[in-house]
Amino acid sequence: MGAMAKLAHRVIVTHQLPEEWIADLRDNCNALVGPPTSEVAGLSAELQRHLPSADGLLTLLTVKVDAELLKKAQNLRVVSQMAVGVDNIDLNACTQRGIPVGHTPGVLTDATADLAMLLLLAASRRLLETNRDAREGRWGTWQPERWLGADLAGKTLGIVGMGAIGQATARRAKAFGMNIIYTNRSPKPAAEREFDATRLKLDELLTVSDFVSLHTPLSAETRHLIDAAALAQMKPTAILINTARGPVVDTDALVAALRAGQIRAAGLDVTDPEPLPPNHALWSLDNCVIAPHIGSATENTRRKMAQLAVTNLLAGLRGERLPHCANPTVYEK
Ligand code: DGY
Repeated sequence: MGAMAKLAHRVIVTHQLPEEWIADLRDNCNALVGPPTSEVAGLSAELQRHLPSADGLLTLLTVKVDAELLKKAQNLRVVSQMAVGVDNIDLNACTQRGIPVGHTPGVLTDATADLAMLLLLAASRRLLETNRDAREGRWGTWQPERWLGADLAGKTLGIVGMGAIGQATARRAKAFGMNIIYTNRSPKPAAEREFDATRLKLDELLTVSDFVSLHTPLSAETRHLIDAAALAQMKPTAILINTARGPVVDTDALVAALRAGQIRAAGLDVTDPEPLPPNHALWSLDNCVIAPHIGSATENTRRKMAQLAVTNLLAGLRGERLPHCANPTVYEK
């Protein structure tokens, strides 16, 4: 790490993180760390008061970094998000202010793809529903026709968004004997070769897939990409997996489709809203497996994400190009 006058920079870390994860930040900056995430989701009132003097902001995806926040943070020179997705951040507003935004691609790819497969398997083999039946005394004798699920081998997995996580999911699915098709803004020739995969339009992919796994960032273009019309195109035996962002799916339409048996099941690591309230209709559906946004939640992955966020932040404070920048056009100015 290049020389940096210790404590010269004032940095806001929006929430408490394990000290070991942010040791480099503590060593190099005057870091003001927020409350535990369990206390407040956004930026605490206390930290908001310190925005005017902050040079850097290390943030989580639960904090809205918008024009209003930026207006209060006139000294801000870098924003660093501890996540790969940056839909909580107004990238245009940051770019206009010349503020690079860091994020953490790569380090969470495998963990998130593992979780996509976990949901795919759990939803197809009805793991939660059967576990609950058994726990609650409804095991009974072994019954040949009971608790039947769906096979994976020979089935078609449609990947929506063939980026790093989409590809890692395809790689895992291939090992289960699945066929891969995908949709993506641009063709991915290397992925086509590796997975023997064909690129289709979304409409076609939805019609022929046995499983659909979402891996797109959330943007104006992808909000409610899977709406009532999209769900109606899917096979009645199809299973939808979402490890991307909740609002990529229209939740009301999904509830209706799952209730009506318009699709077989869903496996969700992300929902809209988040957190999903305990009385939400999705919880009442046996054919919906829900995890509380834990795609990247392994010890190694979360530590690496924090460390990468710190690395991005320190680079920005030194005036260097961020190793992982979500708004690279900021450097074209
Ligand atoms: C991300 O990084 O965007 C995930 O949603 C959290 O790991």
